[in-house]
Amino acid sequence: MPNLIINGRAVSVPADTTIVEAAREAGVAIPTLCYLKDVSNVGSCRVCVVEVEGTPELVAACKTPVIEAMRVRTDTPRVIEARRLALDLVISNHGLNSTNFCFSCLKNGDCELQDLCRDLGVEAPSFPAPEKNAPVRDANPFLRFDPRLCIGCQRCVGACNNQARNHTLQTVQRGLRAAIEAPFGPDWRATGCESCGCCAAACPTGAIVEKRRADYRSWEVSAVRTTCP
Ligand code: FES
Repeated sequence: MPNLIINGRAVSVPADTTIVEAAREAGVAIPTLCYLKDVSNVGSCRVCVVEVEGTPELVAACKTPVIEAMRVRTDTPRVIEARRLALDLVISNHGLNSTNFCFSCLKNGDCELQDLCRDLGVEAPSFPAPEKNAPVRDANPFLRFDPRLCIGCQRCVGACNNQARNHTLQTVQRGLRAAIEAPFGPDWRATGCESCGCCAAACPTGAIVEKRRADYRSWEVSAVRTTCP
């Protein structure tokens, strides 16, 4: 059980625990975007960076396992500035324009990216947006994929692989060209997709959404207990 200090708080966690999970254990919240516990951990967004004493570079808390006597700071000005820059880069690649913006999005009010931007005070992208022309995939009666809104976090792929165990969503190409292939086009019935919605539940933006969201706004509904899993 390594012992470490996070923002002055002592915590002991099992070996192989990451900093982000150790911080949660200690009651310290570290923002995350591409990370989803037990679902996806690609370490691509860098929103979770922290300072580790003795390490010159900031490290991604979701990818870094704790070690004995580690001292972590999650709230220094350098950390906050780096997170703001990471988030700025993400929203610059989020496909927002005059016809595609938060008010028209089915996830408006229930969007993790929107919440993070508000928490970190990132109000608008600072970098020029790359051209995104991939068509919306809309043939599935329950699910819709808008590649323009995709931030490439790959949580949907993790959900399809690790939760649904279906392996129908995938990441194609690599690096800057990496893109999500969601099987919601005209041939969706020929794929293994079962329209379970795990991908939509994992998506932190409005890129993959359940179409029924068009019938309500997020603030008009609340969670209830149900026997349906
Ligand atoms: Fe850690 Fe994205 S949440 S890199």
